[in-house]
Amino acid sequence: MDALNLDQLRDTYGLSPIRRGYQIFEGYTMPESFRHMRKAIEDFKVYDDDIWVTSYPKCGTTWTQEIVWNICNNFDFTSAQIDLDIRFPFLEYETCFYTEDKNLLQYEPGIVHKSVEIAANKSRPRFIKTHLPWELLPMEIQSFKKRPKIIHVARNPKDVCVSYFHHNRLMEGFTGDFNLFWKLFYNNKLNYTPMLRNVLSYWEHRTDGVLFIKYEDMKSDISKVITQIAKYLNRPMSEEQLKMLQHHVSFEVMKDNTSTHHAPVLDYLRKCGAVVDNDGCFMRSGKSGGYKSLMNDEVEEIFDKWMEQQLQNTGLVL
Ligand code: A3P
Repeated sequence: MDALNLDQLRDTYGLSPIRRGYQIFEGYTMPESFRHMRKAIEDFKVYDDDIWVTSYPKCGTTWTQEIVWNICNNFDFTSAQIDLDIRFPFLEYETCFYTEDKNLLQYEPGIVHKSVEIAANKSRPRFIKTHLPWELLPMEIQSFKKRPKIIHVARNPKDVCVSYFHHNRLMEGFTGDFNLFWKLFYNNKLNYTPMLRNVLSYWEHRTDGVLFIKYEDMKSDISKVITQIAKYLNRPMSEEQLKMLQHHVSFEVMKDNTSTHHAPVLDYLRKCGAVVDNDGCFMRSGKSGGYKSLMNDEVEEIFDKWMEQQLQNTGLVL
């Protein structure tokens, strides 16, 4: 399938009232609306005491944010009931779900529209989430003029692709099937792709103070990763606090914790007509290796070869 054909198919199955098209920035595919906020993000004022969680979508961002926020806020699980999107704003939210339609904007929960401004005005220390690659971050970070804490979480691309498929049907108005979706993902037609280039852009900076963690390590030993994050953030923690946090961020507890489900945004997206999978849930399956439920052996082989080629000589194993 040629690239032009894929562009057309993406636009047939992937556009909605809040996603009008795509454009390339520094080699990365983004919603075309990113052009409205690119300059504001480039010029975004950064503080050394900021705490940023960065990732390619579906790598365990929400999980990492909930861990980081609680470590930095005295394990105050009562205040943690406030919606995570408010405690830990998503820098470029507006670009993902962009509209100028006043009829739709009336439903906007006060998190999405003007997201760059919202993140900028949070009280310090600020907690900021972004899926942007290093090359699209504020210049003050790229130039090392400011050195906030940056925690990057990565995940196996096959699981990411399957998780992103469900996410696109839940939140991004995608009406196609997985057979089309993996081709769009693999051919860099979706938001924030090329995925591995995005991940490697942070991997390359792990010696410049970026903490690089993996979803799979969180699945196999969450207390070890929580301890690693707390140490990186210079936040000592007792055994009891560690145990409490471990419980609080377990999949079972987070599945019932609506403050981490992006519920107000989902409600907005539903009103905008961008929710295709009405029975979907943000906390979906929470497994490593679950991709086999949708990805057949042939596609898996294509992904394995692609990963091997992209990651060779980088030292990164996903
Ligand atoms: P699945 O779709 O595979 O279930 P992000 O926050 O980056 O969008 O990532 C979402 C993915 O992380 C989803 O994966 C979600 O279920 C999983 N996830 C979220 N919280 C989790 C937790 N506490 N434990 C394990 N997986 C979690």
